[in-house]
Amino acid sequence: MDLKEAIRQRHSVRHYESRPIEADTAARLKEIIDAVNKESGLHIQLVLNEPRAFDSFRAHYGKLTGITNYIALVGKKDSSLREKCGYYGQKIVLEAQTLGLNTCWIGIMFKKIPEAFTVNEGEKLALVIAVGYGSDQGHERKSKTPSEVSNLSDDSPEWFRNGVEAALLAPTATNQQKFVLNLVDGKVEAKALYGPFSKVDLGIVKFNFETGADKDSSIWA
Ligand SMILES: Cc1cc2nc3c(=O)[nH]c(=O)nc-3n(C[C@H](O)[C@H](O)[C@H](O)COP(=O)(O)O)c2cc1C
Repeated sequence: MDLKEAIRQRHSVRHYESRPIEADTAARLKEIIDAVNKESGLHIQLVLNEPRAFDSFRAHYGKLTGITNYIALVGKKDSSLREKCGYYGQKIVLEAQTLGLNTCWIGIMFKKIPEAFTVNEGEKLALVIAVGYGSDQGHERKSKTPSEVSNLSDDSPEWFRNGVEAALLAPTATNQQKFVLNLVDGKVEAKALYGPFSKVDLGIVKFNFETGADKDSSIWA
């Protein structure tokens, strides 16, 4: 499975089997996270076999069960942190999908367990991603249309169409899809609209767009 296929197959999974992630799969995931940290300067950490973050009324109320592994998205506290966590977190999410794992971005329904991961001086935990073997593969959900989020038209190049379609498959907080992608003079203007976690969403959307369109970050205006 490549990352484009992973974009099509991924859905948020909220129920997990209790079995631990197999050792070689966990080692590969750790390698992916290390490479992402090297490229981004983030301090993302894999937390394994730690059920306490999701052992709460809030998590169960939010219908999250069986989560014992997660990815803590930590980085330098600055104005770019949320978008960066979205972009690089989504890279990890899609790689995890290719390894046969399921995921769910979690913004609020978890408890911070201080000894489970490290937050150095000047850093901040932005949010987490649950990871493991899902009891199901999640579900298709409603989506906005290309014309609601972009200026895609019949005359648009194929790569832009592919990018917008991949962006619409991106996870966003409460499925809000509060982003805009406009093709102007060969570059894409990407904007987050007002909404909870919409800056994280924008990073996620940009990673999906680049993957779907076969473009790199030079495509952004
Ligand atoms: C930044 C962000 C935060 C999220 N926070 C939560 C959360 O706290 N609890 C939850 O159950 N789902 C959470 N989600 C998952 C979204 O509800 C889900 O991605 C959205 O409904 C779209 O569904 P899909 O991921 O299956 O495409 C979050 C997603 C994102 C991107």
